[in-house]
Amino acid sequence: MTITRALAVALAAFLSQSGCGTKHNPVPVPGACDASQNVSYDGQIQPLFDRYCTGCHSTASVSRNGAPAGVDFDTYTDASQSAAEASTRVQADTMPPPSFGATVADSDKCLLQAWVDQGASQN
Ligand code: HEC
Repeated sequence: MTITRALAVALAAFLSQSGCGTKHNPVPVPGACDASQNVSYDGQIQPLFDRYCTGCHSTASVSRNGAPAGVDFDTYTDASQSAAEASTRVQADTMPPPSFGATVADSDKCLLQAWVDQGASQN
C-alpha cells in the first residue's frame, strides 16, 4: 500500500466517522464521496469548482472580489496549478472566504482532497 493510498484510506475512515456527505447545506455535487474510488475531474471536480470558486477565481469573472490574478479554476490547466493549495484552503474553511458566507459541503471537501491525493489528474 502506498503512502498516498494509506492516507486516502485513513481520510475515508475519518470522514465516514465525521459524517462525510451528511451535512445539510449546501447541495453537494453529484456522486457520493468514497476516497477509495477514483474521483473524476470532469464529472465531480470541475462542477465543484464551478459551484464554489469561479464566481471569483475565473478569467471570465468581471469582479474577482480580490481573488489573486492567475489563480483560476475554469479549466483543468488552471486548476491543476493550484490543486493542493485549493484543497488545503477548503479543508481549513478559509476558501471561499468566510465573509462570503458559502461553506463547502463535507462530501465536497472529501472529494477535493481525494482528487488531490489521487494525483489531481484530468480524468
Ligand atoms: C468571494 C470570492 C472568492 C471565492 C468564491 C473563492 N475565493 Fe479563493 N480567494 C479569494 C481571495 C480574495 C483570495 C486572496 C486572499 C486570501 O488568500 O485569503 C483568495 C485566495 C485563494 C487561494 C490562494 C491563492 C494564492 O496564491 O495565494 C486559493 C488556493 C484559493 N483562493 C482557492 C479557492 C477555492 C478552491 C475556492 C472554491 C472552493 C475559492 N478560492 C473561492 C476570493 C475567493
